[in-house]
Formats: sequence, structure tokens, C-alpha cells
Amino acid sequence: MKGQILKALRECSDYLSGEKLSEQLGISRVSIWKHIRSLKKDGYVIGASPRGYRLVSSPDLLLPYEFPDLEQRIHYFPEIGSTMDAARELARKGAGEGTIVIAEAQAHGRGRLSREWLSPKGGIYFTLILRPSISPAYAPRINLMASVAVAATIRKLFGLNAELKWPNDVLIEGRKVCGILAEMDAEMDVVNFVNVGIGINANTSVPQFEKTATSLKDTLGRKISRKEFLSVLLGEIERRQALLMEADLLEEWKKLSGTLNKYVRILSLGEVIVGRAIDIDTTGALIIRKRNGSLKKALAGDCIHLREETPDTDMGAVSRQHSV
Ligand code: BTN
Repeated sequence: MKGQILKALRECSDYLSGEKLSEQLGISRVSIWKHIRSLKKDGYVIGASPRGYRLVSSPDLLLPYEFPDLEQRIHYFPEIGSTMDAARELARKGAGEGTIVIAEAQAHGRGRLSREWLSPKGGIYFTLILRPSISPAYAPRINLMASVAVAATIRKLFGLNAELKWPNDVLIEGRKVCGILAEMDAEMDVVNFVNVGIGINANTSVPQFEKTATSLKDTLGRKISRKEFLSVLLGEIERRQALLMEADLLEEWKKLSGTLNKYVRILSLGEVIVGRAIDIDTTGALIIRKRNGSLKKALAGDCIHLREETPDTDMGAVSRQHSV
């Protein structure tokens, strides 16, 4: 209801009377007043006069009522350990497809390969619960889909040349602006749920000395509207969910990829693979042509883009790499 009240206030250029609001939304004027009071507590500045209510300003928060069509699906936390943990608990209890856990900050945000994901206020941190009807082998396509959606959002809103680094980082000018972590609960041939955690350096600042990361604010030189970004991104994800098993998704990933055709060094399940990234297969695995011409597939792992062709010895690659 708070979402609908906000929507009505935003659509009205003047004061909107309590009477009109209650008629429009089918609730009593006392209820309207209570919701307005609660919105004020959340940080909305709402002017009141005998003519009614007027929205003066909104807090820069990703509150559920900012996404009126999704309000019921959003679990919002000003601060949390990790949205992944909350989402896993919700999914295990049966939360439906499309449930979203959003936090303004995370105390123990985590990244791939058990790394820490620093999550101060100003970033965008959320986990989306999906229940796709696919074989577990194809689950990595969900990462591809999410990273394509993030890059598409950045391109659409800011015209920036966002690129993808396999398996699922989003880069701007070679620096990471978004990381994606997917956790799956599956049986041999059935996926119960896949939780997709997305962290975006939005209005945060990355220290100058940090050459491998950036934020949207640092790149654009101004703050962005996190609400607009999240709402466009969720739309881009939803649109692509239907394409999950389509070739179009892989084509889109390939077009946006900054990894294909580059020399890469992949650390995959304890093995180091050095060579040119030439393609991805239908499960999202990266195909690498080694210098000796043999092909190698990486199903998962850590990828470093190398500046130039490197010797096939892995140590040589390390010492000469220009890494991202
Ligand atoms: C990576 O690049 O290593 C993945 C980073 C994923 C970070 C997001 S932020 C929202 C969600 N909650 C977490 O604890 N991690 C993911």
C-alpha cells in the first residue's frame, strides 16, 4: 500500500487530498494517514496542508515500496550479514521464484571462491531466488544471463561500454564494477533453486590505487539513481529468463564479452590453463585454445586477461601478465 501511495503522490504535481487518495486506493482516510506517518518515519518528506499531501523528497534507499509491482516479493534489510544467507533460508522455506533480498549494506558480503565482498552503503546488493526448470548442468547459464542483464543496464542507462569477463564479472574500461555469485540447491537432475547474488559498485568510491575495480559514481563523476538502476536491471533479468536455454542468450554474452579472443590464464579446479579464449559452449564453459593448438574447457574458475600471447609455461604467464 505504501508503494501505491507513493506512486499516487508522484503522479500528482500538486497536493493530493486524503479523500481522493482513500477513494483511489479503496482504504480509509485513517489508514492513509497511518501509512503517510510510516513513510515519514522511513525518511520520506511529505508536506501536509488542508489541501492534502505532497511528496517533497524521498530517501536514497532501496525500500520495497519504491518498486510497486515487486513490493510483495522484496525482503529489505538496512544492514545484513549477507543477502545470500537470508535468501538461502527463504528458499529452503519455500520462497517462490522471483523473491528478492535487498540490503543497503552487508557486514559479511561474500564473493566467488570464498572471497570477501566489501559492501558499504551506496552499493547495490541483492539476491534473487530463481527456480528454473533446467538440468543442473546448465545452471551456469544463469550467471551468464545475469551478467548480460547488468551490462545491458549499464549500457542502456549511461551509454558506457560495459563488458563481460568470464565467468560473470562486469567491467568498465577493464575494471570490475559488478560481481555475481550464484548458489544452487539441486539433486542429480533437478534444480530446486538457484540464488543469484549481484553486487554493484554504484555510489561507492574505489580507492585511487585500486586499478582493477571501479564504481559507477567514479566512472561517471556523479551519483546515480540506485532505484532506477535496480528497477531497470530487474526488468532486464526478467526479460532474459525466458531466453535462458535459447542460443540468443549465448550470442548476447559473446557480443558483450571482453574475454573472447583474449589470451587468458584460468585457474580452474586446481589446474592452470593458459591460451586464447575462443568460445563458450552451451553450458557456459569457456573454450581455450592452448599454444600447442589443443582445446581445453574450463567449467568454472578464476580468469585473468593477459596483455599478449604468453609462453605456455604457467609461471611465465604470471610474471608477464597485465591482470584484471
Ligand atoms: C564476485 O565477484 O566474487 C561475486 C560478488 C557477489 C556479491 C554479491 S552482493 C549481494 C550478494 N550477497 C553476497 O554476500 N554476495 C552477493
